[in-house]
Amino acid sequence: MILVTGATGHFGNAAIQTLLKKGIPASEITALVRDEKKTGDLKNQGITFKMGNYDDYESLEKAFEGVDKLLFISSNDPEHGLDQHKNVLNAAKKNNVGHIVYTSQETRNGKHTSIPFVIGIHKATADLIINSGITYTILNNTLYADSIDKFIGENYLETGIFFPAGDGKIPFMPRAEMAEAAAEVLAGTGHEHKIYSIAGEKAYSFDDIAELLSAIKGKKITYHKPDANTFIDTVVNAGVPKELASFLGSFGDGMANGEFDTQRSDVKHLIGRKPMELEEFLKITYGK
Ligand SMILES: NC(=O)c1ccc[n+]([C@@H]2O[C@H](COP(=O)([O-])OP(=O)(O)OC[C@H]3O[C@@H](n4cnc5c(N)ncnc54)[C@H](OP(=O)(O)O)[C@@H]3O)[C@@H](O)[C@H]2O)c1
Repeated sequence: MILVTGATGHFGNAAIQTLLKKGIPASEITALVRDEKKTGDLKNQGITFKMGNYDDYESLEKAFEGVDKLLFISSNDPEHGLDQHKNVLNAAKKNNVGHIVYTSQETRNGKHTSIPFVIGIHKATADLIINSGITYTILNNTLYADSIDKFIGENYLETGIFFPAGDGKIPFMPRAEMAEAAAEVLAGTGHEHKIYSIAGEKAYSFDDIAELLSAIKGKKITYHKPDANTFIDTVVNAGVPKELASFLGSFGDGMANGEFDTQRSDVKHLIGRKPMELEEFLKITYGK
């Protein structure tokens, strides 16, 4: 049995849809949920639900009974994430889960990171999984193309793009396609003890993104490149909460430093085709 955590979220749901498309029967897929009200369409598709919260070890221990493969989708809680991940791993160990597939973060292997609050948790979790004795696959996921809207802001058409990514390039990829790669690992063979780069084959700067969006929207969109501190001060003055501004600023700073431009991708090998080019993703997303 395959258990997918984060099943009520975007990545987990997309992974389940791909598993079903690949012919894995719904009866062999279980979704971990913490809020039963969110089960929606998955319930109609015949997916079994187990209640569980990353904060509650006992709930996970119970939920993971009989699980062969676990798609362990990382927590989005920077404060408690590592403790939550330890709960997931310990519950998997207790139940002799056969294979853990973990969604980590693709970055350059440098000492410095602009996003230690993300990378620290991923690195520690991946190390714990690798040293746990359980068969693993680590998916080093690049930044979601779906997150571009948060980086360029709501008013990019009027104001241009104002974001501190400098000339840095990012191999953005659609999240649904990344989930497809995860499903391939769960349904396929030969992925044991592997670490994969789940990233686009081409990396794009925000100059490239501004140019692509200008063509799609039929309007010149300028990319302004403040440094991270100027970005944070400016958007906080415009009413963005300080915590969110710092979070976005840190990602921009990491992009400017080339942290995400790893120039490697295992996606074609996993899903049998090249990942979607950003131009196509932007056309689908913004060309409405
Ligand atoms: N690579 C990237 O660019 C990128 C960007 C954003 C996030 N991420 C990471 O990738 C993960 C998946 O992304 P996503 O887009 O699918 O996020 P999402 O749509 O926000 O889904 C997160 C899922 O995790 C569940 N979850 C959160 N806290 C939990 C807890 N304490 N116990 C049990 N389940 C919990 C959520 O449950 P509820 O539905 O009940 O909230 C939801 O199902 C994120 O959690 C984050 O770690 C990566």
